[in-house]
Amino acid sequence: MTEHPPVNALSAQNIFNVSCKSYVVTGAASGLGAAMAEVLTSNGAHVLLLDRDATALKGIHDRLQALGGHVKSQPVDVTDAENLKKHVADFVSQRHGLDGLFANAGISGGPGFGTQSGVLTGCIEAQSPDTWESVFRINLHGVVNALQSAVTVMKQQKHGSLVLTASIAGVKAEPFVSYAYSTVKSAVIQLMRQAAIELAPHGIRVNAIAPGFIETNIAGGRLHDPATALSLSKRVPLGRLGQPTELHGLTLLLASDASSYITGTLIPVDGGVLALS
Ligand SMILES: NC(=O)c1ccc[n+]([C@@H]2O[C@H](COP(=O)([O-])OP(=O)(O)OC[C@H]3O[C@@H](n4cnc5c(N)ncnc54)[C@H](O)[C@@H]3O)[C@@H](O)[C@H]2O)c1
Repeated sequence: MTEHPPVNALSAQNIFNVSCKSYVVTGAASGLGAAMAEVLTSNGAHVLLLDRDATALKGIHDRLQALGGHVKSQPVDVTDAENLKKHVADFVSQRHGLDGLFANAGISGGPGFGTQSGVLTGCIEAQSPDTWESVFRINLHGVVNALQSAVTVMKQQKHGSLVLTASIAGVKAEPFVSYAYSTVKSAVIQLMRQAAIELAPHGIRVNAIAPGFIETNIAGGRLHDPATALSLSKRVPLGRLGQPTELHGLTLLLASDASSYITGTLIPVDGGVLALS
């Protein structure tokens, strides 16, 4: 006869347990990174918040700490590999391990050719190595730096969850975003797959999320503009932009053992946009 576990073992609190576990979030001072950090700390995790914006970082640090969260924060630019690795290593040694890292920091690289302000700067003729440079350095090399900061300890522990923030623009053509952004997010998805295969034998899971249009401060805050929001909403099956808080559930899934058999995959959070492509 099959024995059923006690009901508590199947409670959401148990299945998505992150309490007393340790995580790093890059780009934690705003938008999606702040939402990831807040749901992790709200559920008892210890989180190192990294961001290059020291003022905004202090704001989120103080807010989460006031709510009783276990947070540490450090102003770090993810393109500074040495500094990033040093601060992750310090956190790992204080916490005696690392359960997960969210490589989330990113920039937009300017508007796409399909927007009013991007008609001239976002077209193919305007593309130059210079305009791509910062997007490559932050959105791709910054992610590699973050992964490198975590894998050594995760290999020793034989467990860990790495979560990369990609985009729907890495899967399909998206006139709203820059060429560099779309191209590099596509590379982030491939980076995730490559790392997932290499690291699976070490017990390390690697996944990516593909947000759609989420109302954050990215791209100078143009998603907060009502006209932009309205025109983008018309392209979303759910009929509206997403909110950063709508990443909470997925963050807990990927951070916890609830996703113990999920690796090498891309999970959209896009109100149905990719289903149309
Ligand atoms: N908002 C969306 O619609 C959307 C859609 C798809 C993907 N994304 C991705 O989500 C991630 C988070 O973006 P967001 O929308 O929350 O934007 P956001 O601008 O609100 O937050 C991004 C954070 O990353 C930080 N950051 C940028 N460059 C950095 C660097 N070099 N080093 C350290 N920190 C740095 C910023 O200071 C900021 O706090 C990005 O990778 C972005 O490409 C966002």
